[in-house]
Amino acid sequence: MEKYVIHGGKPLHGQVDISGAKNAAVAVIPAAIMVRGVCRLENLPEISDTDKLLHILTYMGAQVRMINRTTVELDCTNVQMDTLPEEMWAMTRKIRASYYLIGAMLGRFGRARSTMPGGCNFGVRPIDQHIKGLTALGADVRMTGGFINATAKNGRLRGAMVYLDKVSVGATINIMIAAATAEGRTVIENVAREPHIVDLANFLNSMGADVRGAGTDVIKIRGVKTLHGGTYTLIPDQIEAGTYMAAVAAAGGAVKITNVIPKHLECISSKLREMDVEIEDGDDYVLVRRDGPLHQTNIKTKPYPGFPTDMQPQMTAVLCCAPGVSVVTEGVWNGGRFKYVAELKKMGASIEVDDQSAFVQGVDHLTGATVKACDLRAGAAMVVAGLAAEGVTKIEDVVYIERGYQDIVGKFRALGADIACVDEPDEPDAERSAGWVAG
Ligand code: UD1
Repeated sequence: MEKYVIHGGKPLHGQVDISGAKNAAVAVIPAAIMVRGVCRLENLPEISDTDKLLHILTYMGAQVRMINRTTVELDCTNVQMDTLPEEMWAMTRKIRASYYLIGAMLGRFGRARSTMPGGCNFGVRPIDQHIKGLTALGADVRMTGGFINATAKNGRLRGAMVYLDKVSVGATINIMIAAATAEGRTVIENVAREPHIVDLANFLNSMGADVRGAGTDVIKIRGVKTLHGGTYTLIPDQIEAGTYMAAVAAAGGAVKITNVIPKHLECISSKLREMDVEIEDGDDYVLVRRDGPLHQTNIKTKPYPGFPTDMQPQMTAVLCCAPGVSVVTEGVWNGGRFKYVAELKKMGASIEVDDQSAFVQGVDHLTGATVKACDLRAGAAMVVAGLAAEGVTKIEDVVYIERGYQDIVGKFRALGADIACVDEPDEPDAERSAGWVAG
């Protein structure tokens, strides 16, 4: 199995270019099903989640043409399917964002049938708010035997008022996609405000939709009959950028992180500054420098503009070597999202987890060990820890990391890290879980 081998303890220096946003890409690609015409998507990240979605669309009859590594032309004009073909079920069960196919097929055809979504296993991941929204738009939604079936009464969704009981990125996106071509006006209240929500709204609008308010907590959509083709450039990935910032904080050095929107990184920059990491914002870059000792801090994850839950594991990895006690509290996912702590402990970290909080007692240094990527961001945390640790770290199950990081090995090597992807048998581990569970 492929694993990453890191000889840690080397400061990072140089410049790294951030790729397109994963969570925007995995929304925009399914949304393209709604479009009759050619969508040219630029700055698409080269990651396995987008590959899978493009593959699914191809199978459904879309024409997918790669123009270069990060630009694709997608033509869904001839897609006829309102039912996800059986050959694709295994794939949709691996990706969280596959639930956007439901919103898109429902919006385009008035009917949709797909598997329940997959993705990273953070404990229970309900989709009741998606169902609430689609039902309000006039769909009859049923879940049976691991499948979701949805049918719009009279063949077309109609606009409605929707209040989300929980701020949910996925539900906000799914309802926005479905409502784009519904009859009449939809108002969604208490929505998520993440940068990828705004990006999806901008994509839909550039294809002829009328979506307003994205980035605030109320989104208003006036349904249009059809969406037309166009060109759209995705935003840079907030979490990929944050991961490189965390890596510099942990390993030391000075790195210019380019192709970013510094505003999206403010919550991360603020916390790193509290930890005595220097951050300088440019127009489309941030300079991150750390050469002295780290300072402890406390972090609580929240929906945007709060501190992102998808940066929680990487920041915990940084705090492992900050003198004193830091408290990291998970405020988005019930169940704590702390499975990776056991892996950091193998590297000498001193962390106690109590319910939704991890208490991190800073140690002098981490020591290389063989660890697992429990999920996408947990895997990124292992890379951050491995780069800072003394000795050799081997990271197994890197397939999770490759769901969301374009060429992570090449990018860190260019910054002077000693990291390689090797193919060698895994070490025996009685506790190894079966792999994909939920994204
Ligand atoms: C998305 C991201 C994921 C990130 C998360 C929170 C994608 C593909 N994934 O996941 O990386 O960690 O946002 O920023 O974009 N909830 C409900 N009912 C629902 C939906 C969600 O109770 O119907 C709860 C969840 O259990 C969780 C919280 O709402 O506690 C936030 O979940 P949500 O924002 O929906 O996460 P995802 O869209 O699945």
